[in-house]
Amino acid sequence: MTFQAPKGTFDWLPPRSEQVLAVREALVAPVRLAGYGYVETPVFEDTQLFARGVGESTDIVSKEMYTFPDKAGRSLTLRPEGTASVVRAVLQHNLHTGQLPVKVWYSGSQFRYERAQKGRYRHFWQVGAEALGSEDPALDAELIVLAAQGFASLGLTDVRLLVNSLGDKTCRPVYRAALQDFLRGLDLDDDTRARIEINPLRVLDDKRPEVQAQLDGAPLVVDHLCAACKAYHEEVRSLLTASGVAFEDDPRLVRGLDYYTRTTFEFVHGGLGSQSAIGGGGRYDGLSEMLGGPPLPSVGWALGVDRTFLAMEAEGLLPEAAPGRVQVYGVALGDDARRRMFHLVAELRRAGVSADMAFGGKGLKGAMKGADRSGARFALILGERDLAAEAAQVKDLTTAEQTEVPLARVVDVLKGKVQ
Ligand code: HAM
Repeated sequence: MTFQAPKGTFDWLPPRSEQVLAVREALVAPVRLAGYGYVETPVFEDTQLFARGVGESTDIVSKEMYTFPDKAGRSLTLRPEGTASVVRAVLQHNLHTGQLPVKVWYSGSQFRYERAQKGRYRHFWQVGAEALGSEDPALDAELIVLAAQGFASLGLTDVRLLVNSLGDKTCRPVYRAALQDFLRGLDLDDDTRARIEINPLRVLDDKRPEVQAQLDGAPLVVDHLCAACKAYHEEVRSLLTASGVAFEDDPRLVRGLDYYTRTTFEFVHGGLGSQSAIGGGGRYDGLSEMLGGPPLPSVGWALGVDRTFLAMEAEGLLPEAAPGRVQVYGVALGDDARRRMFHLVAELRRAGVSADMAFGGKGLKGAMKGADRSGARFALILGERDLAAEAAQVKDLTTAEQTEVPLARVVDVLKGKVQ
């Protein structure tokens, strides 16, 4: 029996893997233009970082973490998201004592032990951007606009942006109490009743129709925002409108992580079925303090690269991927010619010409087949007789035209031909 990738994971293979690289790059191109700097944090962290940061009552922490003891008995967890790690890194390296906001972006694997299905994986890739240490509605709007630009640059059109505010430490507790009062009066199972006491906002996110049917008259956070939160939210909204970014107010939008305050948002795609969120984020003004740091009001997002890829497929935006092509393919016959070809190919690459060659001692027929399959425009053929004459044959594989070129000039000639 051979091995299979673990459940909920998959491999990116050429040529599609080249396309996903391009998607990652396109999604972060706008934030790089906006002065965000690249950070890389470890793939695993102290388990407590996520327990405290993301929140004990969330599904992510309570059910989905890959947690393990290391050999010294420390509890470590594969990161389920990037924000807690970024805040940890900023505090650890005192970046917050310099110019604010600290603007950073990241790109990497995330791990959640979720029920695997299309668009929901146990290992997936996010690109993210965070702006830390500044309470300014323009920063929230900037990040939302940059994410929208990333999606738009890929050609995606079936994307909706949902926006909400979750209030702050003044108004959220009042809303929470009002929501709990309402929820306690509903006909719900024991698990959901327990959730009312721990994290009532998550009940609003319950997808089951029998629960949704009872939520019609639920109090909405927008109706409980304090004056400061209301003004803040209005400013974010009007900046978005002025930027020409279409959005919808979604008073029911609660997110699956506990650290959010004020602005929250999600990008959803129409072609993905139930796993429709291709990105999301919001403000997390209290997270630094939750992790033992000073007040550091911040905002950020993460975009799901795998789901963005599926969304592009759904919109027919990914043409049949072309196999990775080289420009020149070397075909050498005989040991001496092979050795010489090995160096010629290296020289071509140094000159900026992409080149491959036949390996495994193939004969002329097999090697020429390899040249055709490689998609190369030119075959560089070197037989024993050519070698003796210090020449090689350059064959244009589209026209079958063949010319003899002195070995000393082969790199220059091919360089000229491929440009
Ligand atoms: P999140 O909403 O949990 O937020 O994840 C962001 C995006 O990652 C989702 O919208 C989705 O596209 C993708 N994603 C999440 N789980 C999976 C999965 N199991 N399989 C495939 N894709 C998935 C966060 O992670 C926050 N850290 C975002 C943030 C940054 N908030 C503030 N700053």
